[in-house]
Amino acid sequence: MDRIVITGGAPLTGVLPISGAKNAALPLMIASLLTGDTLELANVPRLADVQLLLRILGNHGVDHTVVGRRPGESAETGQTLRLCASTIIDTTAPYELVSRMRASFWVIAPLVARFGEARVSLPGGCAIGTRPVDLLILALERLGAQIEIEAGDVVARTPKGLKGAEIVFPKVTVSGTHVAMMAAVLANGTTVIENAAREPEIVDVADCLNKMGAKVSGAGTPTIVIEGVPRLGGARHEVLPDRIETGTYAMAVAMAGGDVLLENARAPLLQSALDTLVQAGVTIDPTNAGIRVARNGAGLDPVDVTTEPFPGFPTDLQAQLMALMTRAKGTSRIRETIFENRFMHVQELARLGARIRLDGDLATVEGVERLRGAPVMATDLRASVSLVIAGLAAEGETTINRVYHLDRGFEALEAKLTRCGAQVERVRG
Ligand code: EPU
Repeated sequence: MDRIVITGGAPLTGVLPISGAKNAALPLMIASLLTGDTLELANVPRLADVQLLLRILGNHGVDHTVVGRRPGESAETGQTLRLCASTIIDTTAPYELVSRMRASFWVIAPLVARFGEARVSLPGGCAIGTRPVDLLILALERLGAQIEIEAGDVVARTPKGLKGAEIVFPKVTVSGTHVAMMAAVLANGTTVIENAAREPEIVDVADCLNKMGAKVSGAGTPTIVIEGVPRLGGARHEVLPDRIETGTYAMAVAMAGGDVLLENARAPLLQSALDTLVQAGVTIDPTNAGIRVARNGAGLDPVDVTTEPFPGFPTDLQAQLMALMTRAKGTSRIRETIFENRFMHVQELARLGARIRLDGDLATVEGVERLRGAPVMATDLRASVSLVIAGLAAEGETTINRVYHLDRGFEALEAKLTRCGAQVERVRG
């Protein structure tokens, strides 16, 4: 297995391009199942999760082509995918595939909406908590789907098609909102989703669905209204920039020091995280080209943060912020409220010399003068990249094992950091 070796201490300077958002690209690709026409998606990041989802969609019969690279494009600029679900050969998504990427469970919504049936394996456990799918099932049932669990699979059937309904989510859920939206666009009548997730990726998917002929309004607010239509057509859509990648590299610059333009980044997508960084003493300067992030020699101030659904501080930046706060001048408190088991990075950060105390959902981080490089590993994507951030400031070498987690969600990570002056090397295993 590949490893990443980081020699800490180098500041970051220059321009770092931000890729298309993984968590928008995945549901957008799944939305291709809603039409027999071609959906063209631009700015799709080159990630292992995207490749895996192409395989899963291919298993259902979705054809895809990767549009050839255009002048000026490099391995670090997103790709354009054309997806065509004109002939679906199988409405079953098996365990071997779904268990490797939870989001692939969401195919259940377009499949049942367009074909009246779907059989999708329950995704099983995952490193950051139990992550059930009860609210996704609730949404489909509200729309009239009959759901049964058979041999570990969720089987959804709608002999008479889906019907618009009111769906009130008892808690905010990104996955539940995606599934409800993708099913309701082809339902007969009007659907109202209450307590909907407001994440920018929901808005991006709603925009794309509307280009395909859907009638979705209110995405980005807690109430989404969808008037069902009989069929959707093809469209072209560009994936929005990745706010989590943006926040991650902003924290990397804050950690290593320096001055970097995060090209294509959009501040409103992560205002709460940027506000936190400003509070910590980082210079954040949104420009037409992106977001400039700078920190001179001054130390970082500690912060108190609680993860929340959008527009609050994102859980997907919690590990990275914790890595940053290990070097703050004082004690920070970071509370994780979205996932119950998302502190797997704490023990690994401790191996680098961090002082972190865990008490239920609260991590208390006492800033230390220095971190020292060590071999570490991580069990999920965001935890892995928090170790990269720590490694950038640690003395000596930090070796990060299990790099496949990083490859799932960060496009060209070493190339982007190296170009800004970091000493990061991939060792093929
Ligand atoms: N939940 C339930 N029942 C459900 C669905 C969710 O109890 O049926 C719970 C979850 O267990 C969790 C909370 O509700 O405690 C929120 O889950 P949500 O559905 O919002 O998360 P998700 O859709 O599974 C997406 C992202 C995650 C991100 C979360 C929160 C994608 C592909 N994944 O997950 O991203 O952390 O929203 O913002 O969009 C990542 O990219 O590393 C990642 C984990």
